[in-house]
Amino acid sequence: EIASLRTYLKDERFRAAKGGQNLKVGLVPTMGFLHEGHASLLSEARKHNDLVVLSIFVNPIQFGPGEDFETYPRDSDKDLALADREGVDAVFLPSVEEMYPNPTKTTISVNELTAGLCGASRPGHFNGVTTVVGKLLHIVSPDNAYFGQKDAQQVAVITQMTRDLNMDVNIVPCPIVREQDGLALSSRNVYLSSEERKAALVLSRSLQLVKKKVEQNERTTVGELRKDLIQAIQSEPLSQIDYVEIVQFPGMTPLEDRLSTEDAHEDILIALAVRFGKTRLIDNVILTKK
Ligand code: PAJ
Repeated sequence: EIASLRTYLKDERFRAAKGGQNLKVGLVPTMGFLHEGHASLLSEARKHNDLVVLSIFVNPIQFGPGEDFETYPRDSDKDLALADREGVDAVFLPSVEEMYPNPTKTTISVNELTAGLCGASRPGHFNGVTTVVGKLLHIVSPDNAYFGQKDAQQVAVITQMTRDLNMDVNIVPCPIVREQDGLALSSRNVYLSSEERKAALVLSRSLQLVKKKVEQNERTTVGELRKDLIQAIQSEPLSQIDYVEIVQFPGMTPLEDRLSTEDAHEDILIALAVRFGKTRLIDNVILTKK
């Protein structure tokens, strides 16, 4: 599979070069069970590249013990239909054995940016993400790779990795796609019972509320904002907060409490992870620096 994808890409690049063209390749890495969030990345890739590669791989090493690797939803027929609809040129669907031959002894690890938020609540998670994304980038050598801001910390970590390792790829962040009622699309939303699904609306609702507050120029402190957000989420009895954090983005550094958003050096990321029953959901908003 890896070999045949490489041969295909080499042939396509060679053919384009013979015609005097430089083939632009876009990569969209996913774990499948595709939804309109993934579709938005594919359509962005379609707009700016000659050839679009979609990878679908439920990456075991980014799941911790007791997490949902085994039960992660899978539906490759539906995924292939969506890929077709979005005009994807090649789908890369490797097996675990091919991606991680036994033994595999190399991991990619990004420091500092991975210390907080999902890095703290899912130890080892980002090493799994950077290792697999590093491998995918090496296999495909894309000009552009597309990632959703839904996983804002992931975007920051991967961008840093590509800089640190001199990878010749442009990382393109794409906006969060939401349901009509505000819930951020996620493959994990299928785990939610109808009650939990309703309760989960508290996430986008509270984030929007806090965002408005800041935009209306209330010079609140970071501490107060965070307290408000925690309170809003706890008002929903089915919610169990994993974390609620307000940090600078993409540096992921804490904001001094006395700072208002106007004084921040970078954009501000308000991010949270909250459990509804067994399902852990993440969501965020980014406040752009004035
Ligand atoms: P996965 O959760 O399948 O997501 C694949 C890509 O789709 C990620 O870049 C993610 O941020 C983006 N995405 C998911 N939901 C979105 C939404 N509602 N709006 C916009 N983009 C959305 O993230 C992963 O897989 C993995 O960690 C991966 C990068 C593939 C490495 O294994």
